[in-house]
Amino acid sequence: MLKNDTFLRALLREPVPYTPIWIMRQAGRYLPEYNATRARAGSFLNLCKSPDLATEVTLQPLARYALDAAILFSDILTVPDAMGLGLYFAEGEGPKFERPIRDEWEVRNLSVPDPTVNLRYVLDGVSQIRKALAGSVPLIGFSGSPFTLACYMVEGGGSEDFRHIKGMLYRRPDLLHRILEVTTEAVIQYLNAQIEAGAQAVMVFDTWGGTLTPKAYREFSLHYLTVIAAGLTKQAEGRRVPNIVFTKGGGLWLESIADAGYDAVGLDWTMDMGEARRLVGHKVALQGNLDPMTLFGTPECIRSEVGRVLTEFGPGSGHVFNLGHGITRFTDPDQVTVLVDAVHELSRRPSIAIT
Ligand code: CP3
Repeated sequence: MLKNDTFLRALLREPVPYTPIWIMRQAGRYLPEYNATRARAGSFLNLCKSPDLATEVTLQPLARYALDAAILFSDILTVPDAMGLGLYFAEGEGPKFERPIRDEWEVRNLSVPDPTVNLRYVLDGVSQIRKALAGSVPLIGFSGSPFTLACYMVEGGGSEDFRHIKGMLYRRPDLLHRILEVTTEAVIQYLNAQIEAGAQAVMVFDTWGGTLTPKAYREFSLHYLTVIAAGLTKQAEGRRVPNIVFTKGGGLWLESIADAGYDAVGLDWTMDMGEARRLVGHKVALQGNLDPMTLFGTPECIRSEVGRVLTEFGPGSGHVFNLGHGITRFTDPDQVTVLVDAVHELSRRPSIAIT
């Protein structure tokens, strides 16, 4: 039995006594205890690949803050790594692949990895984290979206202009579609394996979908997100497993994203929560959307910005509080206490529980 299921209930737009909060990248480099464990592991990838250490860092932010959900400590790039692309992290340069996918023969050779074999370490981490949480809060599993994964697979790492993947999109859309098809099947199997191992909600991160034109977004990102939503396991352990989709920069396309078949849609900070709710609040729950940089403001400013987002959303359920993107490594951990406590305090209105 879950002691705190406010997060799962809010995703299903069921009544909650207060607005639940979790934070994208909540276990990360802004926490000194994370940096200590990472130093012990030797590298970020070792941390991801050790179920014991992944469990340890997943729990770190929960020991400090009254968060309403835990998120599996891992990375979206474990999937292309399991496809054989050779993930590594060059110090100070972010993720890179030894073998990017550019040529036709490389695309043809791609295949769907068996998550129970090639991503066993993630699934073992999920079961171990569930045990360690002991029903305190739900555990979120996650994956990258096919388009976002394809960006890293084709570019071979991060990019400022996405010239390789966009070059492929405009020259050889057939090749990009093939990558996206294989990746979509990989994501479905991977997320369902996480659910079977104990993930109680799942989220798909479409970090780079917002860099596309509206037409290309529909064809190369949203279409595959829709296929994923249809393929996800909806029920486990006698309860609904809610799913969330987040396209950074997707605010202009919110209505079509809300029709993709997910229970909740994540928003970045460029959208007004109230406007978003008016457009799609009858179909999906909303997650977000404080500007992560608000945490560089004063505590009073954090509280007032939290109040603004809560007021924009208005009364009633269907809101999970979060930042509009991941917390940055330079954030002062004490500012996060101010944020979490403000969300709980300012949203605790008895009327919400009965609406
Ligand atoms: O939210 C969480 O706490 C769970 C852990 C998580 C990480 N990455 C850990 C991580 C999640 C959900 C991700 C997702 C992820 N990874 C995304 C999608 C979400 C987003 O932020 O847009 C993307 C695009 C990646 C790819 C990735 N991984 C990049 C670009 C980087 C470098 C970022 C940087 O700031 O240097 C990573 C590394 C990474 N993933 C770190 C963490 C904690 C930092 C690694 C370190 O300790 O050196």
